[in-house]
Amino acid sequence: MTPNESNSKPALQARTDNKTSLQLREPDDWHLHLRDGAMLQAVAPYSAAQVGRALVMPNLQPPVVSVAMAEAYRERILGALKAEQASGFNPCMTLYLTDKTSREEIDRAADSPHVLAFKLYPAGATTHSDAGVTNLEALDPVFERMAKKSVVLCVHGEVTAAEVDVFDREARFIEERLIPLRQRHPELRIVFEHATTREAVDYVRESDGAIAATITPQHLLYNRNALFRGGLRPHYYCLPILKREPHRQALVAAAISGSPRFFMGTDSAPHDQSLKEADCGCAGCFSAAFALELYAQVFDEARALPRLEDFVSGFGADFYGLPRASGRVELVRQDHVVPERIRHEGHTLIPLAAGQTLRWKFAGRI
Ligand code: DOR
Ligand code: ZN
Repeated sequence: MTPNESNSKPALQARTDNKTSLQLREPDDWHLHLRDGAMLQAVAPYSAAQVGRALVMPNLQPPVVSVAMAEAYRERILGALKAEQASGFNPCMTLYLTDKTSREEIDRAADSPHVLAFKLYPAGATTHSDAGVTNLEALDPVFERMAKKSVVLCVHGEVTAAEVDVFDREARFIEERLIPLRQRHPELRIVFEHATTREAVDYVRESDGAIAATITPQHLLYNRNALFRGGLRPHYYCLPILKREPHRQALVAAAISGSPRFFMGTDSAPHDQSLKEADCGCAGCFSAAFALELYAQVFDEARALPRLEDFVSGFGADFYGLPRASGRVELVRQDHVVPERIRHEGHTLIPLAAGQTLRWKFAGRI
């Protein structure tokens, strides 16, 4: 299947190979880990440089479980930026859904101008998810209130049972958890975060109701071979894990399809090099420093650059019911090699695609 056959939308414009500049509406990153403390200081400026808004994940230790905690975290994020960057960056916050989340907290979130969503981590699914949800049905009153107040539920869609193969966890989640949840709460607005499988994008594309999905650069660019190229490659390890090539192709087709249900969410998840290159290394790819370049690479390779802007700057804001940004950014066609490492006051980060050549370079706001 070629990109143009993947949907019924009008054919893409002619090849854009001769373009040297791409001017886009200012993008938003709808799934971002900014961490806290020194790591926050190290990584926040990269996102503030490239995107106007980011939906910040709540999996700190302890997790961000209340509007009060989210407001305080938001202040720390803005405090990690220089004044001119802080004025152009809007951190949108998520709260961590736990077995103890109350309906009153949903009401407070609905009333907050800064909190946009709750994040569902099934307990044990990933980094700092011990506080995650153990029994979805028990939270039905909370989901009911979220649906009533139009508060979005962002979902890490993997089952966690140890006996389920790590490559099957997403598809099993859809069948066993997501479909029943949506049958019980058809009005609930859901973002299926970091979709990694054909099953996930098919489900999101074909379902009725308010459901969308973010797609990360790593799942668009790489299949699971990247984890084992010449040896074990911990910097390509994230959760959900990279999948087989047909899944990657299904994700690319979804991203370039022009469907408003798919949009940018990097899931940039920095861990210090020492925690990635360990006998039990952390999951997460640090992509924020070159996020737009990575997505542009995908859309360019798929000859779909005309569809990039809606994916990175349009459909996400639409889903969250926010105005699209008014500012603009520019990328220029210029080969550049992603640095092998980024150092910042005691932290060393290995960026996604380190050592690889990208064709588009972020040139700043225009
Ligand atoms: O790879 C991942 N890293 N997946 C997640 O869901 C969490 C994230 C993190 O916070 O490190
Ligand atoms: Zn994440």
